[in-house]
This record gives sequence, C-alpha cells and structure tokens, in this order.
Amino acid sequence: MKRPYRRLSAGIVLGILAAASTAAADGQAMFLEKCGACHKSGGKASVINPADKAGQVWVNYFARGRHPVDTGIAEADMKQILDFISSHAADSDQPATAVIPK
Ligand code: HEC
Repeated sequence: MKRPYRRLSAGIVLGILAAASTAAADGQAMFLEKCGACHKSGGKASVINPADKAGQVWVNYFARGRHPVDTGIAEADMKQILDFISSHAADSDQPATAVIPK
C-alpha cells in the first residue's frame, strides 16, 4: 500500500476547494437570477454589476434601505448575493463588470 493517507488528504482539499467555488458560483447565479430579474438590458431597471460600486458602498446601500423598491429577495439569499457582490466590487481583486450584460 502506498501512503493512502496522502490520497485521503488530497481528496479532502479538493472537496473543500469544490465547496468554496460552488458557494461563489451560487452567489453569482443568484445575483444574475434575482437582481437580474429587474436589472437587465431591456428590463424595468438599469443594468448593474458588482464593479459599479466599492464593496462597503454596496453593503451600506442595502443596510440603509437606499434601494428604491422592495426587491422581494429573502434575507439569506441577499446575504449570499452581497457576499458575491462585495468580493467582485470595484475595490476588490476581481472586479466584475459584465455578470449582467449591457
Ligand atoms: C423587483 C425589481 C428589482 C429587483 C429584484 C432589484 N432591483 Fe434594483 N432597482 C429596481 C428599480 C425599479 C430601480 C430604480 C430604477 C433604476 O435605477 O433603473 C432600482 C435601482 C437600483 C440601483 C440604483 C441604480 C442606479 O443606477 O443608481 C441599484 C444599485 C440596484 N437597484 C441594485 C440592485 C441589486 C444589487 C439587486 C439584487 C440584490 C436589485 N437591485 C434587485 C428594481 C429592482
């Protein structure tokens, strides 16, 4: 038998990486689905993207109730969306400018 524990730990690391990237993909999918329901080209609201604002500006925008209409998005979903937006905001390492196409 050749060091089975090595394989086991590699499997765990891959599992963790897969879980982390799934969470990020979920945030993006949710942003696209929920925010994009209104915010899209030809939709009832203008196209928006995470890189439109700095992370803290996004968080404050919703925390202070600045959004003009009720989004109807559940709190848990909103948290995931804000996590996604913040990690791809204007001041992030990977600003996202085109999740919702112009
Ligand atoms: C039910 C429809 C709807 C949903 C869902 C929605 N919005 Fe909006 N949003 C609007 C409307 C209507 C406006 C005002 C018109 C406009 O700015 O185009 C607006 C305005 C905004 C603005 C200001 C735009 C500007 O240019 O100043 C931002 C930022 C924004 N929304 C972000 C979001 C984010 C992020 C989400 C998802 C978490 C979201 N909205 C979900 C309808 C919606």
